Amino acid sequence: MLPLALLGACATGFSDPSRELAPEVSATTAHADEIHVPADLGIWNTPLKDDPDQPQAAACETCHGPDAPRSGPPRDDFHDAIELEHGTLNCNQCHDADRTRLRLADATTLPFTEVMSLCRQCHGPQTRDYQHWSHGGNTGYWDDRQGAALRNNCVDCHDPHAPAFPLVRPVFPPRDRGYEETEAHP
Ligand code: HEC
Ligand code: HEC
Ligand code: HEC
Ligand code: HEC
Repeated sequence: MLPLALLGACATGFSDPSRELAPEVSATTAHADEIHVPADLGIWNTPLKDDPDQPQAAACETCHGPDAPRSGPPRDDFHDAIELEHGTLNCNQCHDADRTRLRLADATTLPFTEVMSLCRQCHGPQTRDYQHWSHGGNTGYWDDRQGAALRNNCVDCHDPHAPAFPLVRPVFPPRDRGYEETEAHP
């Protein structure tokens, strides 16, 4: 008798509305994947701080745009805080002479938002892995009928100036207290 009573309870719904089953999704709507675009692309976080945590930020246009005030001779020590550790690349292989844009090897220029086309130019295998979902990861929805998958941008994980992923520091294994005790009392 009891199982039947339970079944009856299910049919009339849950008493807690938050536990109701979600409405059925329509099989026809598929959301296209979205790629995350970091909000601070094209912004330079200067080494100067407004308060202990907030760097002073300035858009590239401020100093490199067509209306930027220029005075004095060009200097090559301005962004010295950037330590480039990326093969033997130099600034101009990625930054166009118009510093507000990125640049491919064939002199095509791109806005910062299209940074992944820059990475793709030299990192075919990883880009292919990314396209096959085996590099880069994502958040958002797995089921594209429910919502879009939000894929990470290459520069979410890799600093373009020093892209090597930091090594994970190995730590000691969990302490085996039983083992230590036998050590102390052989
Ligand atoms: C506060 C002013 C300022 C801002 C903001 C700024 N720059 Fe610069 N940048 C300079 C100056 C000054 C130089 C030195 C070259 C010159 O005098 O023309 C320079 C040089 C460079 C160089 C050449 C470096 C070299 O060693 O040849 C690159 C590349 C560059 N900037 C990229 C950028 C990018 C990209 C941004 C935005 C994300 C940016 N800059 C924002 C002032 C600025
Ligand atoms: C492999 C390509 C690449 C090279 C080489 C490179 N950059 Fe960049 N740089 C980028 C990209 C992409 C961004 C925007 C992504 C971001 O800010 O996370 C950027 C951002 C910047 C910024 C603003 C953000 C920051 O990190 O300070 C400055 C300033 C800058 N670059 C200057 C330079 C200078 C100067 C050099 C040479 C010493 C250089 N870059 C070399 C690709 C490159
Ligand atoms: C113009 C060619 C070029 C571009 C553009 C470029 N890279 Fe590279 N990248 C290289 C070279 C060369 C190396 C060094 C390979 C080596 O040392 O074996 C490298 C190395 C790397 C590495 C491995 C670092 C390590 O030591 O493990 C990563 C990660 C990386 N790049 C990510 C990026 C990302 C992300 C972008 C886009 C912002 C990018 N690259 C753009 C040429 C490029
Ligand atoms: C979710 C973070 C993440 C994203 C997004 C990501 N990578 Fe990586 N990438 C890694 C990690 C972690 C490693 C280091 C793997 C290792 O050490 O075994 C790596 C390694 C690399 C390497 C070094 C060679 C290798 O395979 O070990 C290159 C080159 C590279 N990534 C390029 C890219 C490019 C290009 C993109 C964008 C299409 C990208 N990555 C997006 C996390 C990411």
